[in-house]
Amino acid sequence: MKKILVLASGRGSNFQAIIDASRTQKIKGEIIALITNNISAKAIGRAKKHHIPVYVIHSQKNLDPRLRGDDLTFEKKLLTQCQELNPDLIVLAGYMKILPQNFIKHFKNKIINIHPALLPQFPGLHAQKQALQNGTKVSGCTVHFVDEGVDTGPIILQEKVPILGNDTEETLSDRILQKEHLTLVSAIELFCNDKLEVKEGKVYIK
Ligand code: GAR
Repeated sequence: MKKILVLASGRGSNFQAIIDASRTQKIKGEIIALITNNISAKAIGRAKKHHIPVYVIHSQKNLDPRLRGDDLTFEKKLLTQCQELNPDLIVLAGYMKILPQNFIKHFKNKIINIHPALLPQFPGLHAQKQALQNGTKVSGCTVHFVDEGVDTGPIILQEKVPILGNDTEETLSDRILQKEHLTLVSAIELFCNDKLEVKEGKVYIK
């Protein structure tokens, strides 16, 4: 059984999909903890309901959460806590803070992220809005390993979602979200079954 640590900042529907997949043994992994940077995250309630330990680790400084923090206390706390938990896999399930470089280096090829677009299209915030504004006809979701860039790491899985003429940011986000849950669980399943290999910046499924 792989030890999975989840980082989430908000609603936690992707976190819930991982909880469900772990409970039904679709994935050979146990969720060892949730770390959040948001004391009001709905994800906390989901963790508590399933007796998953929760750690709230947030920046003391009033920094834009998307900026790379120079808050060394936060960075040190996060790294120390994660080292103590010693996970095999860290899943960013709607974690809306950019991770410190030393953290990413320490857990190289062990952190995966779900993003609501077909990367490398529409990285960063409001990916669904970017897709609508761009007039693209197809978007989707991507699960990728996290590297030092923003949404740039090696891609594990992607799923397409058509954009309809009457889509709003909300309707498109909802449709992509349904695909996210499945795609994220599939990627975790592959990881837990040791099926993923990263070579020269690309993921190979064994
Ligand atoms: C999801 O759509 C996820 O892809 C997105 O936040 C949402 C979280 O929903 N993540 C990003 O945009 C990261 N760049 P959830 O809290 O219900 O899982």
